[in-house]
Amino acid sequence: MIDDKKVLFSGMQATGNLTLGNYLGALKNWVNLADEYQCFYCVVDEHSITVRQDPATLRKRARNLLMLYIAAGIDPEKNCLYYQSHVSAHAELAWILNCYTYMGEMNRMTQFKDKSAKHADNINVGLFAYPVLMAADILLFQADVVPVGKDQMQHLEITRDIAERFNSIYGDVFTIPEPYFGKAGARIMSLQDPLHKMSKSDENPNGSIYLMDDKDTIMRKFKRAVTDSEACIRYSDEQPGIRNLLDIYCACNDVTPDEAVKTFEGKGYGELKMAVGETVADRLTGLQTEFHRLEKEKAFIDGIIKENAEKAGYFANKTLRKVQRKIGFPDRIR
Ligand code: TYM
Repeated sequence: MIDDKKVLFSGMQATGNLTLGNYLGALKNWVNLADEYQCFYCVVDEHSITVRQDPATLRKRARNLLMLYIAAGIDPEKNCLYYQSHVSAHAELAWILNCYTYMGEMNRMTQFKDKSAKHADNINVGLFAYPVLMAADILLFQADVVPVGKDQMQHLEITRDIAERFNSIYGDVFTIPEPYFGKAGARIMSLQDPLHKMSKSDENPNGSIYLMDDKDTIMRKFKRAVTDSEACIRYSDEQPGIRNLLDIYCACNDVTPDEAVKTFEGKGYGELKMAVGETVADRLTGLQTEFHRLEKEKAFIDGIIKENAEKAGYFANKTLRKVQRKIGFPDRIR
């Protein structure tokens, strides 16, 4: 707990183009939590290099992501927005936690299996150890809650396991974090294959809505969204395409699936697709306008980057020093 507030930590990779899944599953839920929690939102650029990156592109994407956090409505005065690579404690704690994590439990990580299948020419140790770095991110800040999409659940479970193991040896060092999901949108699926999640790395660009897509592109992608031949709008596992469209509608409008189904009673799939497309386009247009405004505010963004690296570093180093002392590293001489 910091300043009597519980601590919240989350992050996103600065890789690829952010999708509507990232927005509805995570980013949108991060807004307005600062009154209740002390919030840290990290641009996890160290995670990004588990897949080969072009240096100039990575640098640009990291900055764009930080600006997107603000454009989405996260107030940089009330929340700590920073780059993972500016706080060296992340990598240092990750090394320590590697020594408290078993190969067997890491072998079970489904995201590693998926990613190593996609990048068969570069199955590096970092990709394998990725969840340990994620555990370090969260535990460094003694986070109570971690708002993420459902695809990160397994990583959060291993974080809790590592923290409990460490605490059982050394006493109460780490806070055990809880996941935090939004009411809707925790798992947004591809518009072309509603049995798979919408993903930045999808090879079919029609499956994903990207946060920077213009209105025409958004409407075209929704028009082409895969549905079914039932011709009935229900919220059911048997109709994954329709269910996904309703999930998107619910997350954008803060309504329940029952309410959404009522709104579309007696209407056709075409109408549903257009309504969801309009809602999404409205949301994203506002975000894009704010993003383009921020692009011109170089000094303001630079100030946030500098100030928050120091602030995040201060909290992270407190935990790191405590961990180092517990495991027996020699005291620093002052
Ligand atoms: P990343 O960058 O893949 O995704 C960022 C956030 O977006 C969510 N998300 C989705 N939610 C709903 N539907 C989808 N289709 C969808 N796709 C992505 C993710 O669940 C995530 O919340 N390992 C993390 C980044 C990370 C992190 C952390 C997160 C590193 N350290 C510490 C929290 C705490 C990742 O790759 O997310």
